[in-house]
Amino acid sequence: MQTSEYDRQPAGRNGAPEQGRAAELAGRLLDWYRTHGRDLPWRRTRDPYHIWVSEVMLQQTRVETVIPYFERWIAQFPTPEALASAPQEQVLKAWEGLGYYVRARNLQEAVQEVVARYGGAVPDDPDALARLKGVGPYTAGAILSIAFNRPVPAVDGNVLRVIARLYNIAADISLPSTRRVITELVQEMMPEGQAGDFNQALMDLGATICTPKSPKCLLCPLREGCEGWKAGRVGELPVKGKARAPRPVERVAAVVEHQGRLLMVRRPPGGLLGGLWELPGDDVPAGADAEETLRAIFWNRFGVEVVVGEHLTDVTHVFSHVAWHVRCYRAGLAPGHEIRESADVRWASRSEVDGFPMPTVQRKVLAALHEGPTSRRRND
Ligand code: ADE
Repeated sequence: MQTSEYDRQPAGRNGAPEQGRAAELAGRLLDWYRTHGRDLPWRRTRDPYHIWVSEVMLQQTRVETVIPYFERWIAQFPTPEALASAPQEQVLKAWEGLGYYVRARNLQEAVQEVVARYGGAVPDDPDALARLKGVGPYTAGAILSIAFNRPVPAVDGNVLRVIARLYNIAADISLPSTRRVITELVQEMMPEGQAGDFNQALMDLGATICTPKSPKCLLCPLREGCEGWKAGRVGELPVKGKARAPRPVERVAAVVEHQGRLLMVRRPPGGLLGGLWELPGDDVPAGADAEETLRAIFWNRFGVEVVVGEHLTDVTHVFSHVAWHVRCYRAGLAPGHEIRESADVRWASRSEVDGFPMPTVQRKVLAALHEGPTSRRRND
């Protein structure tokens, strides 16, 4: 199968017959959306800030997961001003469990910019939106079309798949050149005055009918016009270059308890899980011993010696590009050594720990510890 070129350039793309066809497909899709579109909380509003929040949450996360987060977020930070003035810790806590925390940090920073520069009104200007932190072409297109009904495509993974099938495009959809062609096709189909519904109809078709596996072509409103279906190629499309397997990273972490309190540290503000709290620990360099690494971590970071005790549990957590294998030990400070609290170091009670924004991987570690000795042995 061809993978580097389009099977066919859509014939006469700028010609009148092709435009008529695009308009007809768009009309059918919109009819379908009126009866089959999903009733989602962010579709009951035109508030651009609420739509922006939903789109950022939806970027790497499933709709069903996002719904309760979105509702809690809007209750907690109903306006750009409320989000802009909230402590980052509260913002990360509200995001806890959604992953890709850089999204929350960027969203708050961008909203602060909107408050400072535009008096809290989300701009409906593509260039102004594109300058905001974390707002790429997809997010800008989604805000412009859904909140302001501006005729701008919002091409996510669902839309890439739908259009690749509809036009029988066999080029790799992870290539920018393919994304460009697909964006142009969406632009061509875009119906006057219905940009928001049209973009969301494409997303819903991709999520419910034109699914990655076992697409429901018999129920598809676009089937008669679908080049991929006519060619019997729907099952092979879209073509997508293989993602790299996550790189394995060995980690070590310590449970250090003192008078019923647990030593917790905050990660540096940028980068993976930036600003979240965790047990003290770090990567184990290739070939190094985990226990020795743990002693070095405490010496380098706090200037203290620790006595490494029982190996408590191992936890694996896979991110998009790395897979952490965390080896977790109990440890105690050597006699005469102490660690003082600071902005990024806390001796936390159980309920304080619950209140910290913490990544899922750390919750997994703590859950494994609280499960007790049987599961610990099993994990060993
Ligand atoms: N995925 C991304 N944006 C979406 C939206 N507005 N509705 C449904 N799914 C989406």
